[in-house]
Amino acid sequence: MLPAVTATRYVTPLREGGSLPGLMEADDLGTYVVKWRAAGQGVGVLVAEVVCGELARALGLPVPALVTVDVAPELAVGEPDHEVQELLQRSAGRNLGLDYLPGALDFEAGADGVDPALAGRVLWFDALVGNVDRSWRNPNMLFWHGRLQLIDHGAALTFHHHWPGAPAAVARPYDATAHALIECAPDVPAADGALAPLVTRALLSDVLDQVPDEWLDEEGEQPSAVRTRYVDQLMARLEARENWLPGLVAAAAAGGGRRRRAPRGENRPSWLGPPPPEGVTQR
Ligand SMILES: Nc1ncnc2c1ncn2[C@@H]1O[C@H](COP(=O)(O)OP(=O)(O)OP(=O)(O)O)[C@@H](O)[C@H]1O
Ligand SMILES: [Mg+2]
Repeated sequence: MLPAVTATRYVTPLREGGSLPGLMEADDLGTYVVKWRAAGQGVGVLVAEVVCGELARALGLPVPALVTVDVAPELAVGEPDHEVQELLQRSAGRNLGLDYLPGALDFEAGADGVDPALAGRVLWFDALVGNVDRSWRNPNMLFWHGRLQLIDHGAALTFHHHWPGAPAAVARPYDATAHALIECAPDVPAADGALAPLVTRALLSDVLDQVPDEWLDEEGEQPSAVRTRYVDQLMARLEARENWLPGLVAAAAAGGGRRRRAPRGENRPSWLGPPPPEGVTQR
């Protein structure tokens, strides 16, 4: 099971995130980015965060530590924003926390520092879990102490929003053309050689065991049966690699086709004057 902490103070909403994650302090003296059980797409998003986050970690990819955070609704009393206040109230109970990485930089700032081996592993992993949310528009990666960190896996495992359609997702090609790392020369064959043998039923079962029972409570079905469904689905996806791996290798070799970002200063209106020196970010 994930470590369980209890929230002691609500600090602020993180407005960069569409689901309005909250920054909270907890009784272990840690600070966490909290994803709410009552937000948007529901508790499945939290399941995806745990399954993908812990699978990524088991494959050696860097992910902030995950915990469950028990939140009492009284903690919302000081929050002036009604929408946030209501979200917190409805999320009373067990939510997901990611270790807050203070001073982490947005991905953009260090994009050139991702080596092909790591880029290949991230790409391969995102294709396995069907993560549609790591694009150059919304990279969902941070740099912390010079190291890449993967965040925000809530939009992966899309099959679990509609299980009858899950068999069709098993062999579905992964569209990597807009992936945030596609221009880093990702070494996908090496990633496949290294990571595929690590993804076993035993590993996936361990990963699913980290998900709290109450988040898997689907229409009276036993949580153990729901866990087995996720394991079966991900094993089938792994075994169907001949359907998605060649396309991934080809997309990585093509490097996304064209540069997504205009060269520095190209889209700058003349009234702004010359661009600032390299390395200076304007907000
Ligand atoms: N562990 C963390 N440490 C520091 N900052 C974080 C952390 N997790 C998230 N953030 C910041 O909060 C923002 C929102 O987080 P995240 O992308 O997980 O939320 P979301 O609501 O799922 O977002 P989206 O709008 O992409 O769906 C991130 O872009 C990042 O700037
Ligand atoms: Mg995000």
